[in-house]
Amino acid sequence: MSDFKSWMQGVQARMEDTLSAVLPRADHLPARLHEAMRYAVLDGGKRVRPLLAFAAGELTAASPERLAYAGAAVELIHAYSLVHDDMPAMDNDVLRRGKPTVHVAFDEATALLAGDALQTAAFDVLSHHALADQPATQLKMVGILARASGSLGMCGGQGVDLYSVGQTLTLPELELMHILKTGALIRAAVLLGAHCGEPLSDEELARVDHFAKCMGLAFQVVDDILDEEADTATLGKTAGKDAANNKPTYVALLGLKGARDKAAELQLDARAALAPFGARAERLLDLADYIVARSH
Ligand code: IPE
Ligand code: IPE
Ligand code: MG
Ligand code: MG
Ligand code: MG
Repeated sequence: MSDFKSWMQGVQARMEDTLSAVLPRADHLPARLHEAMRYAVLDGGKRVRPLLAFAAGELTAASPERLAYAGAAVELIHAYSLVHDDMPAMDNDVLRRGKPTVHVAFDEATALLAGDALQTAAFDVLSHHALADQPATQLKMVGILARASGSLGMCGGQGVDLYSVGQTLTLPELELMHILKTGALIRAAVLLGAHCGEPLSDEELARVDHFAKCMGLAFQVVDDILDEEADTATLGKTAGKDAANNKPTYVALLGLKGARDKAAELQLDARAALAPFGARAERLLDLADYIVARSH
């Protein structure tokens, strides 16, 4: 097994334990809500955002304990965004991570509440554990995640996505939608991971941020490509939904080749930003390659 693959599996296993530990027990009242929260988060998902946090933490010699909590906070927001994204009022999907979606396995009201509760659980995790040497840094981290999740970040992007169905967006409009709906949380994952360790200079932080912005956009460009190209069994979610729902995507606007070229261009741009970090950036570079080459 490659060194990268075993590193990845190690982080994924650690995240499963951490997420399980921070979520309320399934038998805690109201059990149905807590079961739904655990169902949405555990046993599935690539954990790309925690992986990015851990890789960014290698730039600043951050401790794995801190990174696991920072990664868990972002993953909880991500899981909530998926629960709501799949609901009938949004993408109306029945399959996620190879399992029935939360509103199908439970019910719509429970899916709404599970998403709500996962969102606040994320901020509970981020504020409850000491994740930075300076309290001011940790407060900044809470702000980064809040901004990335709300109407100026993920929720805002989801709004643009919904309001754009059936319309032809310009490339800059599509880019902004992707940067918000998916890029914002990916960017937060990288920044949170970096902030768990030694402080970076402003110039270094700007480089890390540029990497994160490029990869956040690239992640959604690849998601659009996979929706068109991959099959449902590989994806663990229904393939071909974007075209069926008339969604504005990179594939719809640029075609498959155009979308692939865009992802490759972003990958190069992201990699270049980390050049001065040398070997410390190896994991982030590996992840950039993984994000663009992934099959699901
Ligand atoms: C899917 O995200 C939704 C997007 C933001 C594109 P992931 O592809 O990271 O989904 P999981 O967490 O691995 O299931
Ligand atoms: C979702 O984008 C982005 C989120 C904020 C959840 P998609 O709607 O394309 O994600 P999938 O394809 O359902 O995972
Ligand atoms: Mg969607
Ligand atoms: Mg969707
Ligand atoms: Mg998609």
